[in-house]
Formats: sequence, C-alpha cells, structure tokens
Amino acid sequence: MKMISRRDFLKASAVVGATAALTACGGGDSSSAASTATSAASTASSAAASGSANIGICIYQFADNFMTLYRADLEEYLTALGYSVTIMDGKNDQNTQTEQINTFLQQGVDVLIINPVQTTSAQTIVDTISPSGIPIVFINREPDKSVLDSYPEKCCYVGADARQSGTYQGELILATDTEGDINGDGVITYIMCKGDPENIDAQYRTEYSIKALEDAGKTVNCLYEYLDNWDQTLAQQDVANALAQYGDQIEVVFCNNDAMALGALQSIEQAGRTVGTDIYLVGVDALAEAVQAVVDGRMTGTVLNDDVGQATAATEATKMYVEGQAVEQYYWVDYVKVTPENAADYLPADDEEEEE
Ligand code: GAL
Repeated sequence: MKMISRRDFLKASAVVGATAALTACGGGDSSSAASTATSAASTASSAAASGSANIGICIYQFADNFMTLYRADLEEYLTALGYSVTIMDGKNDQNTQTEQINTFLQQGVDVLIINPVQTTSAQTIVDTISPSGIPIVFINREPDKSVLDSYPEKCCYVGADARQSGTYQGELILATDTEGDINGDGVITYIMCKGDPENIDAQYRTEYSIKALEDAGKTVNCLYEYLDNWDQTLAQQDVANALAQYGDQIEVVFCNNDAMALGALQSIEQAGRTVGTDIYLVGVDALAEAVQAVVDGRMTGTVLNDDVGQATAATEATKMYVEGQAVEQYYWVDYVKVTPENAADYLPADDEEEEE
C-alpha cells in the first residue's frame, strides 16, 4: 500500500479546513459582510480585474527551517492562481525588511504578505504601508490586535494558537510511561530551549507546556531556560552544557521548535543519554527529520505546525483582497499532536515525486 506523504495528507485536509474557516468566519452577518465587500470591491486593484496580481512577500529570515517550508507553499499556491510572486529575505534584521517593504511600495504590489522580523515593529510596518491602501496579510508572528484594528478591512493575521502547541507538548510528556518523572522523585525536572523572546509562539509554548503538567497535578522544577532563537546550533551547545552541568537531574528537554530539538538530540546522544529511557525530548513543527526521530524512538514527540494549512489560508486571504472581497481579521489553523503511534503518517513518502 502506498503511504501518503505528510504534504499530500495536509494538502487534502488543509484545503477543506481553510475553506471551512474562511466561510465560517465570514458567515456571521451576511448583510454587513456584503456591504464591506462592496466597498472593498470599489477599491480593488485594476490588476485584479485583469485576473492577475503582484504579491510581495517578506519573510523574517530564509535561514529558518519552518519558514522555508511555509514560503515554498506560499509560492506554489499563489503562483497556481496566476499571481506574480516576489519573496524577500529579511535576514532577521528589521531595517532590512523595512527597506524591502519600501521597495515593494515603490513597485506598487497588490497585496503584501508579511512575516515581521520584530512583532513589536508591526505597527510601524502598518503605518508605512497604510497610506498606499495596499492590504496586508500578517503571517506566523502575531501582532497585537490594536495593530490590525489600526488598518481596518485591509489587514489580517493568519496563524496558529501557540497555546495549543504548548499544551500538546505537555501532554506528550504526560503520555510517557513515567509521565515525565523518570527518577520517580515526584518532580518533573526539565530544561527549556526557547525561541526569540518577543515571539508569542515562544512565550506561549514555554508557558503552556508546563501548565499542562501542572494542570495534571504534577510538580515541576525548571533547571534553566535557554534563549536559543529557534536555532539548532545554539540549542545543541546549550543542551550540551546543561547535560554537563545537571547530568541525570534532567528528565525532560522541552524545545519551542524542532530545529532546537534536533540540536538537543545531537547533544543528548553525544552525552550517552537515551531518549525514552533516561530522558524525554519534545519539539514543535513536525519537520521531516524530527518526525523520523519520533518514529525511531529518538524523540518523544513533536507537534505539527501546519505550514500547508497556514499557507492555504494566507493564499485565500490574499485572493480575497485581490478580488475586493471582505476579509476577516483572524484566520486560525490547528496544531496536531505527533506521537510515536501516529508519527509515520507525517513522514514524507519516498515516492512523493511519482505520486504528484
Ligand atoms: C514558529 C516555528 C519556528 C519558527 C518561528 C519563526 O511558529 O515553530 O520553528 O519558524 O515560527 O517565527
């Protein structure tokens, strides 16, 4: 039997999910939605009328594993709609990204999709773009609601609720044989590898993974929280140091994403520790390498950060802006828990090329 790849599986479910989400969000008050659509339609670009559009995309950093998947999806889906797509690398520098936005404004794009370098700069980004009237789809890094409110009907956010991913990480630990307490001392002792500190994904994953343990009545002990900026190499170094410093005290390594979990895994194995036996390790994203590690028993679990679902929703929102339809402020895509039992379903298929 042919295995369906994570990507094919997600594509099928995401299209259904995103359509449902967009319909549901817009479905509350049809008369006001219709009038908004009419007013928005009157300002729709001439490019839309001719069936095409120019879309500018700003990614915070190309050297980010998850955003690499996400931007490839965006390019594929938007191009399939016949749009012309330009994607810029912000190189993790807000000034660089701001220059790229200014260039897009000079070129006169129809919609901007923005993954901000600094979420705290989102208001400045909106203030820069709003005089042009160009709609903005913020992705992946959630700005304050006040930012979206400041550019009504022209600005939305597509993302996933990071609290859910944190909760799932905690639940993955609770599902282990020892419920996270390997040494049986009544306390779950852990370290945490965190993404960039101003990112709500990092904040919520850090908070809600532990909250899930506490809500289940567990006592926890945090040895240290490392600031690893989503980065594999930084996490590898920090976890190596942590293992040298704390040794067997560490029962769980929580990582806010899989890139850091893969770095942690290298150090765990180099230190002669065995995931599932004397230490637990969880991440988020469901990168192919991490899912393989879950299948092989080298990671306790991960959480699917649905790039396909989010890119599908962002593409839908972009299309609606291009066509002058009413767009909601928020589009949410669910996370999915990836466990030792279901991980094989999320592996890329070997024969993916043939299946296309
Ligand atoms: C998160 C993702 C991380 C990283 C980050 C960038 O949602 O889990 O791996 O890509 O976004 O903002």
